[in-house]
Amino acid sequence: MPTVYVPSPFPAREVERLRTAGHDVRERRDGTPPRNADAWICLLSDRVDASIMDGIPGLRILANVAVGYENIDVDAAMQRDVIVTNTPDVLTESTADLTFGLILGVLRHVVEADRAVRSGIFPVWGLDQPLIGADAYGRTLGIFGLGRIGTAVARRGHLGFRMPVIYVNQGRNVAAEEQLGAEHVSFEELLVCSDVLCIHAPLTDETRHRFGRDAFARMKPSAVLINVARGPLVDEAALVDALRNGEIAGAGLDVFEDEPVVHPGLLEMTDRVVLTPHIGSATRETRDAMAALAVDNVLAVLGGQPPLTLVRRS
Ligand code: DGY
Repeated sequence: MPTVYVPSPFPAREVERLRTAGHDVRERRDGTPPRNADAWICLLSDRVDASIMDGIPGLRILANVAVGYENIDVDAAMQRDVIVTNTPDVLTESTADLTFGLILGVLRHVVEADRAVRSGIFPVWGLDQPLIGADAYGRTLGIFGLGRIGTAVARRGHLGFRMPVIYVNQGRNVAAEEQLGAEHVSFEELLVCSDVLCIHAPLTDETRHRFGRDAFARMKPSAVLINVARGPLVDEAALVDALRNGEIAGAGLDVFEDEPVVHPGLLEMTDRVVLTPHIGSATRETRDAMAALAVDNVLAVLGGQPPLTLVRRS
């Protein structure tokens, strides 16, 4: 009977599907890697390198419950004939929703306004009062990485907020250009022209610290930076300086360089910075769909079928 390790907790419905298919399901209750697993449904917080895979000789599939997979050494997995899968598509819309939540949260001071009301401060309505923000409507939306999530953000911006969309991507996104009027620009133009700059690219050697001192110095002082992709794309120390020096106006961050640690300079900034703890995909519907897709991949591979969402070497 093949053994499948799942994280704890894991949806009962998905455990049942695995058991009905004849698998021995074991919940991992501590951080130690599983032993004797045929399949391992793992999380972003599981670092799976070559030595860990060597400790699980019968492993056939690593089903990561995330679209990103930088926690897994994919080359080492391929060398060991271990299939790696992820969970694309099912989290696209919820992550794009949170992106817009952060955009509006920063531009309209939503978190500060909430704090003000709770602490008994209710500013007198006036033409120049505290908590005056900036419109999202009609401002230029810059997107770094126009893949699935970036495109879902572009759609919201273009259709809902009439935002002109400019983007940087490894290749052209012709569909987004035709349907959303998205304009492919250079990195320099993206920095100089964006009012709202959203990061939606994966973490690679090329994208690590792509947003650092030089980048912030090129951005508009009124611009806001939003990151719901991966923390290390942003040099957090440089971001703190840029915010302090007024090189950019604000930031909305769902991901951090060294999660769960957050740069103390960001924690201090309570008026132009909104911080959320990596909750881009954290809706009930989406997390259930992610678990289900991971199980679909395991059932396919252990049943001798190709996986649904195979990760290929980049
Ligand atoms: C992912 O799927 O990569 C997300 O970061 C998880 O929320």
